[in-house]
Amino acid sequence: MTWVVVPAAGRGTRFGGEVPKQYLEVAGEPLIAHSLRALFAHPGVEGAVLVLADGDSRWPGWSDGSGRPVIACTGGDTRAESVLAGLAALPDSVRADAFVLVHDAARPNLRPADLAALLERGREDPVGAILASPVRDTLKRAGDDGGIDRTEPRDRLWRALTPQLFRRLQLGRALESAAADGVEVTDEAMAMERQGARPLLVEGAADNIKVTTPADLAYFEFLLARRAAGE
Ligand code: CTP
Ligand code: MG
Repeated sequence: MTWVVVPAAGRGTRFGGEVPKQYLEVAGEPLIAHSLRALFAHPGVEGAVLVLADGDSRWPGWSDGSGRPVIACTGGDTRAESVLAGLAALPDSVRADAFVLVHDAARPNLRPADLAALLERGREDPVGAILASPVRDTLKRAGDDGGIDRTEPRDRLWRALTPQLFRRLQLGRALESAAADGVEVTDEAMAMERQGARPLLVEGAADNIKVTTPADLAYFEFLLARRAAGE
């Protein structure tokens, strides 16, 4: 059984608006609830630590009726700090060498098959693994003047998604080390890579989007409606 840390303490500055994006409702439920439901759909998920912003009073609680716990805790100024707070809030029963998932609250469209593949393949890797999607667009490196300096080969480039799966203690140490060095890591794998580890890439669907702008929210609404229609 695997616990999951769900960072939901961001402000959604790129999205804008009054309500932080993780609380925006689609089909009558906030994005956080969609993300939790996708995670708890896997029977191997034992419980979740939900990391909320300091002073957040919007969280109404959530349960899928299975009795698996969702524990709330307070995050920090960066995503990495929030994940660290989430790791610290895991129950003592989660061993130091146990694998733990980290999944963005703002990624509500996680597919069950992708979560299953990550858990299955990641647990067999000594380090852990992340969901990722191959880059499909042609990539340009810009110069200071906004002109194109060159085209970057994309054949080995991947977009890092979540969930990401690492061992509790190793991930905590990697995130602490990055923070101590003043390096802002933008995902868990980046912290692990700094320690010399080589996490496994597990290919996941490109529509496991992180809702960042209003257009992304509209896209998630579309994806959800399509799924509900059984397409
Ligand atoms: N997050 C967090 N704590 C932070 C910053 C982000 O828990 N200090 C969470 C967000 O709530 C989100 C996930 O990390 O679920 C991914 O972050 P991002 O998409 O960047 O969300 P925000 O930081 O809220 O958005 P923005 O960067 O546009 O302000
Ligand atoms: Mg952010």
